[in-house]
Amino acid sequence: VAIRFDDDLDAVDWVATKVALAADDFDNGRSPEQLRRSFRQSQHVQFGHDGAELVAMGRLLSDGVCNAYLLDVWTSSNHRRRGIASQLVRRLADAVPGQHIGLQTDDRGDFYDALGFAEQPEFWSTVSGRWLDGEPG
Ligand SMILES: CC(C)(COP(=O)(O)OP(=O)(O)OC[C@H]1O[C@@H](n2cnc3c(N)ncnc32)[C@H](O)[C@@H]1OP(=O)(O)O)[C@@H](O)C(=O)NCCC(=O)NCCS
Repeated sequence: VAIRFDDDLDAVDWVATKVALAADDFDNGRSPEQLRRSFRQSQHVQFGHDGAELVAMGRLLSDGVCNAYLLDVWTSSNHRRRGIASQLVRRLADAVPGQHIGLQTDDRGDFYDALGFAEQPEFWSTVSGRWLDGEPG
């Protein structure tokens, strides 16, 4: 079945999406509304649909000049290893030609390696205050 890609935020059922992410153990605590806002406020988003079902998504923060950051890349577990996330990440990368794209991953280096990303050791991070505390749920 061909996967249809688009960037249509209004077509996404965020409650169902949160349920699907949680079922795949890929829920980092955002409410459906916080999930929607984090996509809405990203410069570039992509969704993959199999018929009516949302089966993949990802988003990219970008300054529009030189730096971008890739986030929330997910393919539903029953659609994996068919090249869907690869296509989705390529579409996001094509939106920021000439820009450096960073990302953080704990255990999916295999996937990013296959896409030509190189590991950069010593990524440092902190949370400002408490996780998800800055915005209403
Ligand atoms: C990582 C993830 C997005 C990959 O989605 P996908 O649609 O299955 O990815 P693709 O089919 O495009 O995979 C492309 C290549 O990546 C590599 N790869 C992907 N998943 C892999 C796995 N589980 N083990 C080893 N290699 C893997 C393979 O080289 C694969 O090519 P191949 O299938 O021809 O061998 C998906 O497994 C997922 O949603 N995982 C949970 C969420 C997550 O960890 N997201 C990334 C957060 S940083």
